[in-house]
Amino acid sequence: MKVTVVGAGAVGATCADNIARAALCEELVLLDIREGFAEGKSIDMMQSATLLGFDTKIIGSTNDYTKTAGSDVVVITSGMPRKPGMTREELIGINAGIVKGVAENILKYSPNAIFIIISNPMDTMTYLALKSTGISKNRIIGMGGTLDSSRFKYYLSQAIGCSPNDLQGFVIGGHGDTTMIPLTRLATYQGSPVSNYLSEEVLKKVAADTMVGGATLTGLIGTSAWYAPGAAGAALVETIVRDQKKLYTCCVSLDGEYGQKDICLGVPVIIGKNGWEKIIDYKLTADEQAAFNKSADAVRNMNNVLSTL
Ligand code: LAC
Repeated sequence: MKVTVVGAGAVGATCADNIARAALCEELVLLDIREGFAEGKSIDMMQSATLLGFDTKIIGSTNDYTKTAGSDVVVITSGMPRKPGMTREELIGINAGIVKGVAENILKYSPNAIFIIISNPMDTMTYLALKSTGISKNRIIGMGGTLDSSRFKYYLSQAIGCSPNDLQGFVIGGHGDTTMIPLTRLATYQGSPVSNYLSEEVLKKVAADTMVGGATLTGLIGTSAWYAPGAAGAALVETIVRDQKKLYTCCVSLDGEYGQKDICLGVPVIIGKNGWEKIIDYKLTADEQAAFNKSADAVRNMNNVLSTL
């Protein structure tokens, strides 16, 4: 197996580090446009191999896409991260050109790769990657909901006082502060609805904290978060390369599912060796569907900006 991570910034490097530690592939390429940057990070990671006991060969590349040739999975993290006070959507002008160029270059050397998109605004970047490469929709996966669901379980675990690993919970819709939809109705603690443990008021706060989870960290750290985003990217790589068929909420192209078309948005999907393989129908309530439609409207407005750039 060969995996490429494009963008050796904090998210990309953390993602690569997780992939190497879990030995998800034999060869891992880390590519960045900054001269020597990806090479430096790759060598640093390789120098941890004997300490951590992994055998993945990590290769750094300064914008040389020939090194990425034959990748099975490619994670795109390139572009600017948010600064405190910024929305993910404000990054579109800078990141759209970068993501389009990266996706096209990757495709030249890895015509069969599955793409995982992390760059923001993630829903629109996933849509852009789909449109600019023209590859099968199952091979383009936006990471947002995977991260947002993990944050949701963190906030739920804090409120309940339990292990986040004993929780099930999903966030659908867009990967934006106002577009994501934490599905509190379907969240469970060891199979029992979380509403058995938390009041409606607390559940509302958990949902609100989840929605601004990324912004809260940007305020604290001064830039976009990376540990959980990088881990979310690596978790998706794992379910693909090990064909685990795990269910994550990811941003995928909808063709009538959840009442939406010609848009990439977060829904529950089974992910395996073919990319996203199946959309699961959660049978939303009227209120949840209305929130999903509103989220779709906002993401569609952002997608429309692409044609003006
Ligand atoms: C976040 C970025 C990665 O939510 O979108 O932290």
